[in-house]
Amino acid sequence: MDIGMLSLLGKTISLMENLGFLWLVHTGYELNLWEGFLKERNKEDFLAENPDWDPLLLDHWLEQARIQELVVLTKGKYKLSKTGKAIHGYRNYGLEAMYKEFALYWGASFAQLPELIRRQIPRLKMDNEMENELISRASKSSEFFVWPVLRGKCEKEDWHHVLDVGCGEAVLLRRLVEEFPNLHGVGLEVNQSVANRAAMETEPFQGRIRIEATNVFDFKDALEIYDCCLLNNLIYYFTGQQRLDLLKTVTDLLKPGGKIGILTALRGVSPAFQIFKTHIPQNLMSFFLSCHDGFEGLPLEKEVLNLLEQAGFTEVEVIPLPFKVSHYFFARKPLA
Ligand SMILES: C[S@@+](CC[C@H](N)C(=O)[O-])C[C@H]1O[C@@H](n2cnc3c(N)ncnc32)[C@H](O)[C@@H]1O
Repeated sequence: MDIGMLSLLGKTISLMENLGFLWLVHTGYELNLWEGFLKERNKEDFLAENPDWDPLLLDHWLEQARIQELVVLTKGKYKLSKTGKAIHGYRNYGLEAMYKEFALYWGASFAQLPELIRRQIPRLKMDNEMENELISRASKSSEFFVWPVLRGKCEKEDWHHVLDVGCGEAVLLRRLVEEFPNLHGVGLEVNQSVANRAAMETEPFQGRIRIEATNVFDFKDALEIYDCCLLNNLIYYFTGQQRLDLLKTVTDLLKPGGKIGILTALRGVSPAFQIFKTHIPQNLMSFFLSCHDGFEGLPLEKEVLNLLEQAGFTEVEVIPLPFKVSHYFFARKPLA
């Protein structure tokens, strides 16, 4: 067999395996199978509780889950493996939303790529469920990587007033006020349903966290009062000139010497030692976003650096997060 054919075969087999994983994880969440098999159970018990379910399809789900080592079968009883337990454990940390995005929306959008490239159809409209729910929820999955960096910065710079633009469900604002008793935060969120969830999540911190359901460009506040403005996973919502306008808006709100923090996945990340080839999914995310009206995809590192320079920021620092899943750019507004 020639080498090209062999490599094609390898890619096709791994595609089938990965597609299988996607459908298993997504269906497992939808049907609560991950929770169901936390304790050892046999298939018959499960079917007795769900008499309307199709036994043949459940059998296939279990067979696939076993082949992919997500459940273990011992003496006729199934139980989650370590990976299966992780799938269950990280459900509410963005994983369920991320897999729902892949299963329901990525495939459907990419299927229209030939027509999109030929411009036979206009760029797609981002689905409401994506805008209202999934994007902000899936973003939570970066918390594990982002939080240690943010906490370190906050400690070092002694921030007291933080503005989180496009705060999503305000997970990081909440962590900041929990960790730093003198810190006050304001979260801006343009999507009303996401803002409502953020307000609910931060209710115990009323008085220290304020959520405003507003577009950042309509936000009115005293100038130069924030020590730090965060733009986490936000920049890709804005196109060329808007990105610069956004940074200028933020500059006006920052104290002289205050910091901007831009968290974003990047296109064109140079390969380095990686356990996972994370540049592949990131570029795919950029590709997916670009299929949609109003989205320009993820920026290149040099685009973010140019943007910061054009907006007048100094002391730019680029921090790659583990596995290069994202990069955090911090920069300072000059003192005078
Ligand atoms: C991908 S989420 C990121 C949420 C959070 N920052 C995080 O990193 O987990 C981006 C959020 O920004 C919000 N957003 C987009 N454009 C905005 C704008 N012009 N003003 C305020 N919020 C905006 C979106 O509704 C979305 O919830």
